Amino acid sequence: MQSSPESAPATPASRSDWWREAVIYQVYVRSFADSDGDGDGDLRGIRERLPKLAALGVDAVWLTPFYVSPLADGGYDVADYRDVDPRFGTLADFDDLRASAHGLGIRVIIDIVPNHTSSAHPWFDAAVTAEPGSPARDRYVFRPGKGPDGDEPPTNWNSIFGGPAWTRLKRPDGTPEEWYLHLFDPEQPDLNWENSEVRAEFADVLRFWLDRGVDGFRIDVAHGMVKDPALPDIAEGQKADLLDGHSRLPYFDQDGVHEIYREWRAIADSYPGERALVAEAWVEDADRVARYLRPDELHQAFNFEYLTADWDATVLRGVAQRSLAANAAVGAPTTWVLSNHDVTRHVTRFGGGDHGLARARAAALLTLALPGSVYLYQGEELGLPEVTDLPEDVLQDPTWKRSQYTERGRDGCRVPLPWEGEEAPFGFGSSAERAWLPVPPEWRTLTREAQERDAGSTLSLYTAALRLRRSEPALGDGAMHWGDAPEEVLVVHRDPGFSCVVNFAPEPVTMRWEGEVLLGSGPLRLAEGVLVLPADTAVWLRR
Ligand code: NOJ
Repeated sequence: MQSSPESAPATPASRSDWWREAVIYQVYVRSFADSDGDGDGDLRGIRERLPKLAALGVDAVWLTPFYVSPLADGGYDVADYRDVDPRFGTLADFDDLRASAHGLGIRVIIDIVPNHTSSAHPWFDAAVTAEPGSPARDRYVFRPGKGPDGDEPPTNWNSIFGGPAWTRLKRPDGTPEEWYLHLFDPEQPDLNWENSEVRAEFADVLRFWLDRGVDGFRIDVAHGMVKDPALPDIAEGQKADLLDGHSRLPYFDQDGVHEIYREWRAIADSYPGERALVAEAWVEDADRVARYLRPDELHQAFNFEYLTADWDATVLRGVAQRSLAANAAVGAPTTWVLSNHDVTRHVTRFGGGDHGLARARAAALLTLALPGSVYLYQGEELGLPEVTDLPEDVLQDPTWKRSQYTERGRDGCRVPLPWEGEEAPFGFGSSAERAWLPVPPEWRTLTREAQERDAGSTLSLYTAALRLRRSEPALGDGAMHWGDAPEEVLVVHRDPGFSCVVNFAPEPVTMRWEGEVLLGSGPLRLAEGVLVLPADTAVWLRR
């Protein structure tokens, strides 16, 4: 289907710059809902469950990659950017899902993976059989090795998943030849973004999905596509870690990436309705992130400084101030995020158990009160913890193997969602044995169904918060200011007449407050002008 922009499918109606304040729900496709019982979540499963997301009150979904893929890195290894992997469905299923989502007023953002392809992509097949220096090789980053026999990698760069970032090719007769770059797994060869064919191909892929009516793209490794052409070695001990944006590295956050985004923005802007582009850019500080958000570049970038911040009032206030200021300088909203499919779920990060859950609930109210847009990761609305005891033989994250079985990787935050019923996999699919990762039996009390019946559940908290976020004129896009508060308390004021107070201290805090409680993350008391807020609790108040 190649429809012209004029005949593009209708998008949900609302404010045109919807992305400035949208609540966007990340669907990890493989783990959301499995409609055909093969153990992997799929597009039909998502479509069937969309009413639940509408009831939760999200504005959009972001779908992780569902393209044809060997799943060497959970689908971030794409073999065909214009088709759906049979495990996840068909293009027709995608169209149905997109149409149903729009019918419910939910926009659809999809992932685009431009830094690398899968090694199963036809371009890489062609590169492997072609000669050094050939056009087919120029689409990737091939180099001769160092040393007399070329048996040392071209640079000392490491893969983010562990081990060297270069793999040497062998001819069919076993003769070693050039090396190719892979910042991630060897099955994810990096593309050469100096190559005009690569640029043209991705412009076309964007149009392919924009024509199918998507509302935007989440850009994978958005800071990584352009490399310093000199390919310099990095300093001893410097390491590329997905979560460490603090080092200046010759393959991340190079100035050349911005030119790509100006081209992509022009493509997005050529379509009706506001199509939004969000950067996954782990870069060093808020001012560097804001460079991706200049008016002719991307709409949003995940606030990873916020995601990696400790549960600490001073730290979080500093992060929020820095990112709001840096983004304001380029006229962009901030995009708050607490969890995603690459990090330990925040219930566990914040200490686990009841304690971690209390903090996670308080963090949700703080996050949803801040100005800008919010990304929710599937399952956080259920208060799901990280699964830390997955059996070793089910682990699939390439980190596990590439770290010589020392780092378990990210599977623990990707466990299938519990929907309903008394037995695993709790409505995710038809049998516990088939689910691609086992669902813990103790999640019986955390199913969506169980939480829908419980007014005190985390699901009920999120649902109430999202409803208020829509009805309160003070919330979403706009300004905020900090209120006076003790050191371990944050007070966020939004006008008109709304405040969020969060107590990070280990004891209850008592404050004077004239107004009424709208929503609390836990038990609290407001009477006769005195607010008593327990430890690790947040409250939304009317002033
Ligand atoms: C970031 C994605 O979020 C992560 O899951 C993936 O492994 C890398 N990019 C490589 O594509």
